[in-house]
Amino acid sequence: MFAKAKQLNIFERSKISYAEIDKELKVELAVLGGLDIFTNAHVLGVANNTSKICEAMGFDHALSKQCILGAYMHDVGKIKIPSNILQKNGKLTDEEFEIMKLHTVYGYEICMSYEQFKYLAPIARYHHENLDGSGYPDHLTDDEIPEEAKLIKIADIWDALTQRRQYKEGFKPSKAADILLGDIKKGKTGSKYLYYLLLCVIDEYEDKNKGNIKELKETQDHLVDLKDLDKIYKQIYDRGYSESLAKKLKKYELPAGYDLSTNTNLLAKTNKKIEKLIQVIKDTQDEIVTLKKQCKEAKSLITRKEEWNVSLFGRKI
Ligand SMILES: [Fe+2]
Repeated sequence: MFAKAKQLNIFERSKISYAEIDKELKVELAVLGGLDIFTNAHVLGVANNTSKICEAMGFDHALSKQCILGAYMHDVGKIKIPSNILQKNGKLTDEEFEIMKLHTVYGYEICMSYEQFKYLAPIARYHHENLDGSGYPDHLTDDEIPEEAKLIKIADIWDALTQRRQYKEGFKPSKAADILLGDIKKGKTGSKYLYYLLLCVIDEYEDKNKGNIKELKETQDHLVDLKDLDKIYKQIYDRGYSESLAKKLKKYELPAGYDLSTNTNLLAKTNKKIEKLIQVIKDTQDEIVTLKKQCKEAKSLITRKEEWNVSLFGRKI
């Protein structure tokens, strides 16, 4: 699998249809009845990150579907955690955290109680385990942790770090990558899935910046027109209407009531917009440069064991 992944061109990778898989999953998850997994922002974020990793790794439809379903079910045990702990606005006490940790065991039990979700039970139980045994609930180490739980763990942490919630701002991707690279160096987490996720994030940021650059170009073109109009209006104010100036104005098909002050306001707004866009483009470019370095680092931290010893849901990849 990894030999294939090394040659992976992320711009030509096969697209998994997340929207399509999502539709299929809605049907499968309907058996959970009142449990509305599809409106939980965190669960949706984890499913989305999981689909990115699956896509970057070139998984087929069936395997991607299993992984994304695992993402939907990973925190299902939280329905058994009291809401005063689950929704607490602030740090949990040690005692509360011990109760919170139980969502892994509850999730395992829930998955095991449905024939069609049994194979996902290890994800629910082990997505908070660390390679060095410092995780929970069973303090498993490296080889004992199922690969699918390792994958969902990265998707989970990435969402928790980067997404904005009512009570906190999200970190930018490079900060999240920094934190995860720290965990990897401490021996808590593997690097492979972060590497693939970063490939996708970089891809998205590059697309985003292409859109920003296009918008800047259009806005700058618009500014040229506004400056031209400014000149025409000033000439009208100085010298009065002439046939040639009226002709020039007509070229612009201006709405009724458009005058020098409308144009002056628009000019100021457009200048501000350009300034803002230039800053956004610069910041995004800086972020891409950092992410590319981190992606390279994540790749260099992938161990041989991670490269070759990979089986998801019992299937060699
Ligand atoms: Fe969790």
